[in-house]
Amino acid sequence: MTKITKAVFPVAGLGSRFLPATKAQPKEMLPIVDKPLIQYAVEEAVSAGINELIFITGRNKRAIEDHFDKAYELETELEAAGKTGLLEQIQKILPKNVTCIYIRQVQPLGLGHAVLCARPVVGNEPFAVLLADDFMTVDEGRPSVLKQMVDLYEKESSSILAVQNVARQYTMQYGIVDALPYRTGLEHVKAIVEKPVPEKAPSTLAVVGRYILNPAIFGCLETLGKGSGGEIQLTDGIAKLIARETVCAYHFEGQRFDCGSKVGYLQAMVTMGLKHPQVREEFRQFLCDLHLSE
Ligand code: UTP
Repeated sequence: MTKITKAVFPVAGLGSRFLPATKAQPKEMLPIVDKPLIQYAVEEAVSAGINELIFITGRNKRAIEDHFDKAYELETELEAAGKTGLLEQIQKILPKNVTCIYIRQVQPLGLGHAVLCARPVVGNEPFAVLLADDFMTVDEGRPSVLKQMVDLYEKESSSILAVQNVARQYTMQYGIVDALPYRTGLEHVKAIVEKPVPEKAPSTLAVVGRYILNPAIFGCLETLGKGSGGEIQLTDGIAKLIARETVCAYHFEGQRFDCGSKVGYLQAMVTMGLKHPQVREEFRQFLCDLHLSE
């Protein structure tokens, strides 16, 4: 059985839905309460046993590299000020056994192209892909969404796509699968299409930002032309993969927020604000005092 130890984080997108916030900083560095989106995604990967993090970066993404690097000046200042709690927090962002690798995607040609950029490092192994702007949270004590998927992969050995049902009017924002129930929570994908209009969508089952992919995906991606939106789409690569091997759709346990959109980001912030040990009481009181009505 092959263990999944590598995760790819495509972070080279333009984040245009979140301008002007993303003009000079990556959207993956937007915080949910006090932690950037990318750190949540990295923690999720680490909780699933991953120890090689491969970031596909682009221009304006330096902050991500800095975030996972040692911050000498800050550490010295915190130490001198006796702020040991904060010092520990920033020193343990990554466990010691975890390595970061950065690959530049010279042009944002699409998610499929970004994943293909990871090929020289991933090689011939199955790997995870996490889109940090799809923020995932699970109930306390439950396995993270990626951990659920890694555990499933160990049983199934086939590529796995995280899916959730969306309202039909939103199919144009997602890769949509046509799938056949296989066992509880799991379906076999028969077809996948990128951003179909609601009338043409084969279902309302949308792929969200967590994938476990077999390395055969690279062969499928390398010959792809431009797809929807003029981009090289991961969805089109997966459509080819389905013709070669089994691909599963997995109904994950947990909540997902589209933090590439303003509303999704606000929802995530409120949800996590109500869970955060430092601020939750005061924040809950604030929300109660709003007395919102329709
Ligand atoms: P999105 O579709 O969310 O695109 O990409 P985006 O450019 O980041 O954001 P908008 O739509 O302009 O607001 C999905 C994921 O794929 C990555 C993005 O960083 C995001 O995590 N991506 C996309 C790349 O790494 N490279 C690309 O060429 C395109």
